[in-house]
Amino acid sequence: MKIDFSTIAARYEAHSLVQMPAADLLLDLLEIGSADDVLDLGCGSGKPTRKIREITRGKVVGIDPSEGMIKEAVEKSRGMGISYEVGSAEELDCEACFDVIFCNSAFQWFSDPERALDNCSRALRKGGKLGVQAPAKKVYSPNFVEAVQKVAEDPRTGEVFSHFKAPWFFLETEAAYRELFEKHGFRVLLAKIESVKTAHTPEEVFDIFSGAAVAGYLNRDCYDSEIDAGYVETFREIVKEAFVRQAGGQGEVNLVFNRLFLVAFKE
Ligand SMILES: C[S@@+](CC[C@H](N)C(=O)[O-])C[C@H]1O[C@@H](n2cnc3c(N)ncnc32)[C@H](O)[C@@H]1O
Repeated sequence: MKIDFSTIAARYEAHSLVQMPAADLLLDLLEIGSADDVLDLGCGSGKPTRKIREITRGKVVGIDPSEGMIKEAVEKSRGMGISYEVGSAEELDCEACFDVIFCNSAFQWFSDPERALDNCSRALRKGGKLGVQAPAKKVYSPNFVEAVQKVAEDPRTGEVFSHFKAPWFFLETEAAYRELFEKHGFRVLLAKIESVKTAHTPEEVFDIFSGAAVAGYLNRDCYDSEIDAGYVETFREIVKEAFVRQAGGQGEVNLVFNRLFLVAFKE
């Protein structure tokens, strides 16, 4: 299954209304030192990477498998002394290169999280820190899940949607995440799933949905049958209508995301 954010790369930062506050929280939790060498894994267009650059005078590297995202990241941080590479967490191959690995809103997309964690463990120096923020639980956002359920139930889209295979990796409990990271050589300091609530107009919620979730829901590689332009358009229409309904009379959607915040040390 190929996940590619390139088609949404140019709009990603404008639509990343829920990822950026979460990135700021993760940055606070990680307490990056002023000389730390830091890897931003799944860096996207590099907004958090640019913040990391302001914290440390050490080496700052961003890695992402999407060529479009890396192109955006390079353009947005010219002259800042950040290195970017196209690559996935599963391909990360370096030994004791970093003091900190920061990973915001990307872990759920990893096709092989266990391999990725082994690679992170190898890439960190002894005592180095890994910080992960990612949507968690199968119902990672009740609003998105409800909207997509309408697609599943609609006679225009239901049959094709039954061929959709979700690409995301989610665990249901803090203990399950803790166990996974510990299995790969980490000592977990904090593993917390928070229900993060924010209020947005239905249009903003649709932009948030379009800024990341569609890289799965409308990804041809996530279906074992063809999807055509008509399906894509009707899918978007149904989801948009669902967000308008969720806003009800008050005009704003109470958007909920279950988010994992995890900080671990390499033993
Ligand atoms: C929602 S964006 C988050 C980008 C950035 N970390 C941020 O907070 O703005 C998710 C990113 O994960 C990347 N990604 C997907 N699969 C990945 C993998 N296997 N390894 C590393 N990054 C991956 C995507 O290309 C995308 O840029």
